[in-house]
Amino acid sequence: MQGEGRWVGIRSGSFKAFGNVYALYDAMRSEAPVWRAPWDNVYVSRFDLVAACLTDPRMSHLPPAHSDASNSALRNWLIYQEGSTHAAIRAAFQKPFAGRGPAAFKPFVDEAVELHCTAISDGDLDIVQAFARAVPERVIARLLGVPAADMPRLRVWSMAARELLDGGFDTAFDETANAVSEMSAYFTAHAAMLLEGRELPMLLAGLPDLVNKVGLDVAGANLALLAFAGHETTVHLISHLFYHLAQAPDQLAMLRAEPKLAANAIAETLRLETPIQKICRWPTETIEIGGHRLAKDTLVVLLPGAANRDPRRFVEPGRFDLRRPVGQNLAFGKGPHVCIGRALAEMEARSMLAAALGLWSVIEPVEGGVRWMDNSSFRGLDRLVLRLAA
Ligand code: HEM
Repeated sequence: MQGEGRWVGIRSGSFKAFGNVYALYDAMRSEAPVWRAPWDNVYVSRFDLVAACLTDPRMSHLPPAHSDASNSALRNWLIYQEGSTHAAIRAAFQKPFAGRGPAAFKPFVDEAVELHCTAISDGDLDIVQAFARAVPERVIARLLGVPAADMPRLRVWSMAARELLDGGFDTAFDETANAVSEMSAYFTAHAAMLLEGRELPMLLAGLPDLVNKVGLDVAGANLALLAFAGHETTVHLISHLFYHLAQAPDQLAMLRAEPKLAANAIAETLRLETPIQKICRWPTETIEIGGHRLAKDTLVVLLPGAANRDPRRFVEPGRFDLRRPVGQNLAFGKGPHVCIGRALAEMEARSMLAAALGLWSVIEPVEGGVRWMDNSSFRGLDRLVLRLAA
C-alpha cells in the first residue's frame, strides 16, 4: 500500500484529467489493490476486496463525528446512517418495492418514454438531453408527487449533489452545499404538504411512518436523497446502454434478433460502465483488508467500477458482451445498504430499450459526439450524439 501520488486524479474529477480511468483502475488493481493516498484516504479496487468490505459489519456508513462528511449538507442521507435510523428510513422507502409493488410503476415509466421518444425524427441527436435524462427525471418526479414546473430545479440540485459527493464532502464547495440544503428544504416542505393531503404519491407510502420515527427535517433530507438517487444513476445507465450498443453493431443486431437479451444488455452495461464509482465506509475498529491494517475511522473508498472490470472475476472485462452470464456485479452495491430502487431503474432501461428498438432501425455513433462528465464519483455522459433513423 504505497503512499505515492501517482493516482491523485482519483480524488475528484479524474475522468477528464485521465481520459481513460480504466487504465488507472487496472494499474491500481494489479499494483496496489488497497492504496493509501497521500491525503490518507484508502482506495480499494479488487472485486473480492470490494465485495468483502460491502458486507463487513465493521465497515460503518456513519462518518466519524470530526469528519467533513458528518458536517456536510448530506449528513442525514440514508447512505450515511447506521442502526435504528437506517432501519427506519430504509423500511419506509422499501414499502412500495415489496412483492409485486414495482409493477405499479410501469404506467408512469411507459408514459415518460412515450412522451420523450415518439416525437423524435430521423437525424443526429444528443440522446442525453432528448431522453436519457428527461425520462428518469419525469418518472421520479411523478412517483414523488413533484410538480412538472419544479423539475428544472431537480436538474440543478442533482448537479450540485453530484459535485458535492465528488468533492469528498469538502465544505469549501459552498455553492453546491447551499443548493443541496435548498433541495432538502424544498422536500421538507413537500413532505409537510403531502401529509396534509389525502393521497400519497406512489413512492411515499411510508412517509407517515418515516416522519414519526425520524422527524420532518430528516425525512425531508431523505426525500431529497430519494429524488437524487432515484434518477441520477438511471440517467447514466440509459445513456451508457445506447453508447455501447451503438459502438457494437454485432451486439445490437443480436439484441434485435433476441429481445430477451435486454436483461443481459442492462446488466452488462452496469458492469462495464458502473454509474456509482465510489462508495465510502469508515472502519469501527482496526481491521485488515487484503493484508493491510487500516485504523479505526480511516475513510475507505470502495471502487465498484474497478471491481466490475476485475480480470480475476470477469473474462475479457473490457468487452461489452451480451452472452456473458448475468452473474453478480457490484453496480447496485451489496449487503445491508444494497440499492432499494434496482427494479425501477431496470424497468426504465428496459422500456426505453424496447421503444428504441421499435422506433429506430439505425442507431449509430457520430464522430465527436461523446463527452464524459468530469466526475470521479459518478460515471456518466454529458453528451451522446447518435444517428437515429426509422
Ligand atoms: C442504475 C441505477 C442505480 C444504480 C447503479 C444504483 C446504485 C446504488 C448503490 C451502489 C447503492 C449502495 C450505496 C452504498 O452502499 O453506500 C445504492 C443505494 C441506494 N439506492 Fe440506488 N442505484 C440506482 C437506482 C436507484 C433508484 C431508481 C432508486 C430509487 C427509486 C435508488 C435508491 C437508492 C437508495 C434509497 C439507496 C440507499 C440504500 C441504503 O443506504 O440503505 N437507486 N444505489
